[in-house]
Amino acid sequence: MALHLGAQYILEHNVGISDAVLLHPLTEEAFIENIKKRFSHEQIYTYIGTVVVSVNPYKKLPLYTPEVIEEYRSRNIYELPPHIYAISDEAYRSMRDRNLDQCIIISGESGAGKTEASKVIMQYVAQVSGKGREIDRVKEQLLQSNPVLEAFGNAKTLRNDNSSRFGKYMDIEFDFKGDPIGGVITNYLLEKSRVASQIPGERNFHIFYQLLAGADPTFLETLKLSPKPENYGFLNRSGCIKVDAIDDAKDFNMVKTGMEVIGFYRTEITEVFQLVASVLKLGNVEFSHRSNADGTDGCDISNTGEIAEVAQLLGCLEQNLTNALTQRTVEVKRDKVKTDFSVAGAVYARDALCKAIYSRLFSWLVQRINDSIKVKTEQTRKVMGVLDIYGFEVFQTNRYEQFIINYCNEKLQQIFIELTLKEEQEEYIREGIEWIHVDYFNNAVICDLIEKNNVGILALLDEQCLLPGNVTDKTFLEKLNQTCKDHPHFESRTLKKNQSDRTLPHDAFRLKHYAGNVTYKVDGFIDKNNDLLYRDLSQAMYACRHNLMKKLFPEGNPSQKSLKRPPTAGSQFKASVQELMKNLLSKNPNYIRCIKPNDDKQSGTLDLEIVKHQVRYLGLMENIRVKRAGYAYRQIYAQFLYRYKMLADETWPSWHGDVVEGVKLILANQKIQQDEIAFGKSKLFIRNPKTLFDLEETRRERMHFLATLIQKVWKGHVKREHFLLMKRSQVVISSRFRGFYGQKQYKKKKAATLLLQCCTRRWKARKVLAELKHEKRCQLAATDIQKHYRGWQARKLLAELKHAKRMEWAARVIHKYYLGWKVRKNYKPKFRRIAGPKVARFMVVALKRKFLLNVRDKLPSLSPVDNKWPSSPKMYKSASDQLQVMHHKWRCRKYRRKLSEAQKYTLREKATASDIFKDKKVIYPESVPRPFKGDYLNIRGDMKWKKIHSLTNDINLVFADLVHKVNRANGKIVQQLLVVSSQAFLVIDHRTMTLKYRIPIEFIEKISLSPFQDKLAVFHMKKPENGDRFAKKGDFIIGNEHIIEIVTKSSLCVKNKTNTMPEISISPQCSGQFGSSAVQVSFQQGAKGLEPGIPGVKVTRKKHLMLISEP
Ligand SMILES: Nc1ncnc2c1ncn2[C@@H]1O[C@H](COP(=O)(O)OP(=O)(O)O)[C@@H](O)[C@H]1O
Ligand SMILES: [Mg+2]
Repeated sequence: MALHLGAQYILEHNVGISDAVLLHPLTEEAFIENIKKRFSHEQIYTYIGTVVVSVNPYKKLPLYTPEVIEEYRSRNIYELPPHIYAISDEAYRSMRDRNLDQCIIISGESGAGKTEASKVIMQYVAQVSGKGREIDRVKEQLLQSNPVLEAFGNAKTLRNDNSSRFGKYMDIEFDFKGDPIGGVITNYLLEKSRVASQIPGERNFHIFYQLLAGADPTFLETLKLSPKPENYGFLNRSGCIKVDAIDDAKDFNMVKTGMEVIGFYRTEITEVFQLVASVLKLGNVEFSHRSNADGTDGCDISNTGEIAEVAQLLGCLEQNLTNALTQRTVEVKRDKVKTDFSVAGAVYARDALCKAIYSRLFSWLVQRINDSIKVKTEQTRKVMGVLDIYGFEVFQTNRYEQFIINYCNEKLQQIFIELTLKEEQEEYIREGIEWIHVDYFNNAVICDLIEKNNVGILALLDEQCLLPGNVTDKTFLEKLNQTCKDHPHFESRTLKKNQSDRTLPHDAFRLKHYAGNVTYKVDGFIDKNNDLLYRDLSQAMYACRHNLMKKLFPEGNPSQKSLKRPPTAGSQFKASVQELMKNLLSKNPNYIRCIKPNDDKQSGTLDLEIVKHQVRYLGLMENIRVKRAGYAYRQIYAQFLYRYKMLADETWPSWHGDVVEGVKLILANQKIQQDEIAFGKSKLFIRNPKTLFDLEETRRERMHFLATLIQKVWKGHVKREHFLLMKRSQVVISSRFRGFYGQKQYKKKKAATLLLQCCTRRWKARKVLAELKHEKRCQLAATDIQKHYRGWQARKLLAELKHAKRMEWAARVIHKYYLGWKVRKNYKPKFRRIAGPKVARFMVVALKRKFLLNVRDKLPSLSPVDNKWPSSPKMYKSASDQLQVMHHKWRCRKYRRKLSEAQKYTLREKATASDIFKDKKVIYPESVPRPFKGDYLNIRGDMKWKKIHSLTNDINLVFADLVHKVNRANGKIVQQLLVVSSQAFLVIDHRTMTLKYRIPIEFIEKISLSPFQDKLAVFHMKKPENGDRFAKKGDFIIGNEHIIEIVTKSSLCVKNKTNTMPEISISPQCSGQFGSSAVQVSFQQGAKGLEPGIPGVKVTRKKHLMLISEP
């Protein structure tokens, strides 16, 4: 089995001697040296036989893991390095397998590691015992009882941050299979004085700080607490509130969870914390002095608010509580009288009440836990008890508590000695070996001094307490001096033997304990032993409407009339110690003796003085001596044989004969003397440790040799295995490689063959192809030659044929010429006479024909304005001109024929205008491209005009437009509408469309205009005849944009009417007849500042001269 790191480490580095029984020489110094040596190598456990000596390492060591537990499980105690697990396993297995109830007694002074050791045991048992839902629940409850009890029963002291302030004995109960089924916890003497006061640097019980730090604010409010510990007198006086290594808030949650797991009801948990809160608050109650009328002292509560809140918390009347704290009832001759407390008395009563509440609460908690964890079924059970009790205490000042504690330790030492010796003796008897007497200090005499009936110190104290009248601590001391003066372990200053001893005060006595001398101050002995609470207080507590409080103070029930005095604290403790001793004696004991290495909680330092002191009072040397009385070492034969079989050739490697024979062979082989050993029934006993060490040494050497041998063989074997493996592997690898290589070669060859094959085939194919190509080329060449040959033949034939044809043609021509020559020869004289004129005529006709055909082919377009005409030879010039005129006329005629009547009339008008004005009037050319529109105002459709022409019959309207009419009298110009019809001139007012006058057209005789730019015309009338009313008015002058059109159209109208054109004169002057006067009208050009046109002229009349000026 592989060892865990810690055990492996320890085995390999085992320093000193792990079982002190084997120490040689056996001295206190050697023992402590051994412990120190081991401690410096973190080997904190050392055996004395089966007792474990444990030195507190004050640091975490890797020794407590589940793996380590697995290693220690079911192993023999000496097989592995010393450990608590080893004796736990031993105890557990003896209990389970041999049906022996066990107890493990853990002792040592405060801070030596007792409580930690008890947890280690619990951890071990929890892991190795069975599993299952119910079992796990029980385990969990048992484990959870620890944090709860530690919270209420532990406190930070100068020696230990988590010091147990109570003694604890816990029975774990198992069924026949070894599975835990429940347990019982017994608590011893809680240090209740701590509730009211602590020495500087120490703290009150953890729970007070945990509650304030960890409870949520609303809960604290319901408890009427503030979260600051500084606010509470019971917490703030020692000057220590916070401890670095402790997380109070976290611990509080653990406590709550623990209580829930154990099975506390919600209401119970609340009640518990209400009581804790009440204690804190009561601690804050203060008193003020009051002088009574009868001269006695009295007091009042000065902070009544606090009392009111406590009363609310506990559900009692404030007044009752106040009364109980400030007064007490005294019975005087069967009468009950109330007397007031002084301030000091009240404070004493208050603290006593708080201590009582707290210590009773603690006992109740233990009881309540027991209710939960007790075995519920009626079945046989096996028990394993763990006792974690305060060790021997020696302080500067030792009081009642130390006395009680040390008494308990004396008792434990006593049974330790008794049991060890008894066991030793029993073993000798069992093994049939002669018993040798052992000298050791028996502390029964001290136990007697303390506990003996009637004369023991406890009895004397009780006697004093019961005495009526004035008993004090002093009278108690006197009584002690009297009774114990002859006792060798009792010392007092008044005794003769100690009179000169200044270290012994007068108010103290000294006991010579097995572990050392302790001086006890008698101050407080009587009071603490009495442990009485004023009846008024217990009644007030009973009267509370608080379930738990009522339960804690049953004696406060007024109906309980029994006035029997309760047993004193001392006698109660004595009874419980005796009970405990009885319990322990009935079980198989196992011991863990804890040692504290230094006073400073330092890891790694071991103070020799401090350790020596503890070694002494734990009686460890005594222990070793007892163990070594006679024979230092014993071992079962089989185990001895197993361990040392390599020391004899016969027994190595295995011995199949009788075990004792085998052992004897080994011993003989090692030449061990007969008086050094004894053969028991089942065990071999060795007298001196040295013999064992020699054996061990030889074994070590032999082991070394064997190890080398084994190593050698093993290495050879491993190497050979390795070699064979390599060989096999090599064969595999090489076969694989060859296969692979062959495959590769094959593939390569195959590829090469293929390549060669393909090259050959390609070469062959190419050869065939070349032959085929040659063949083909030969074929083609033949065809080609054939083709060219045939072509050549054809061409030759063609040339021959052509030649023949030309020859034929030439023959014909020659023949023709010949014939011509013949004819000419025959007709030569005739030809010369007629041929000349004939040829000339022929030539002329040909030229004419060519000219005419040219004209025909190049005729211009039919447009009358197209002036193009084909050129002609000079000789036909006149013919060409004539032809051009003819052609023009012809095309004009053709054009005319296409015109409508209206177009014809318009053209006639334009032609007339041309006749009249061409080259005479400056403004004429601009009128040519403008068509004569006539009705510029579109009055033909006008209704008023229709009305006018229906009256005048001027249906043929030729012109209508607004005109400027020149006033004949003064030359002013006015605008009028002029309408010209085929019949007349009509002047109409253009605004009203009313006819002003109408001049028949035939009355116009002449029209005068200037050749200039003006657009004026003078219309001359016929000479009036027979009172012609139109002519009488005379000539008139009008101007208009379209003056050319007006003049032309009116002339044509006159001509149509009279068949004669009116005379039209175009000159700068004319004479006119305006009414009856003749006027010379003169046009003048070049006037400055005038615009051209009608508005541009200026007309002035001076008698018979009208001057028309133009720009
Ligand atoms: N085995 C251990 N390994 C590590 N630390 C330990 C061990 N035993 C004790 N201690 C330390 O010493 C402190 C005091 O131990 P504790 O068991 O409470 O002492 P005791 O119960 O004897 O007064 C513990 O809080 C812990 O820090
Ligand atoms: Mg403890």
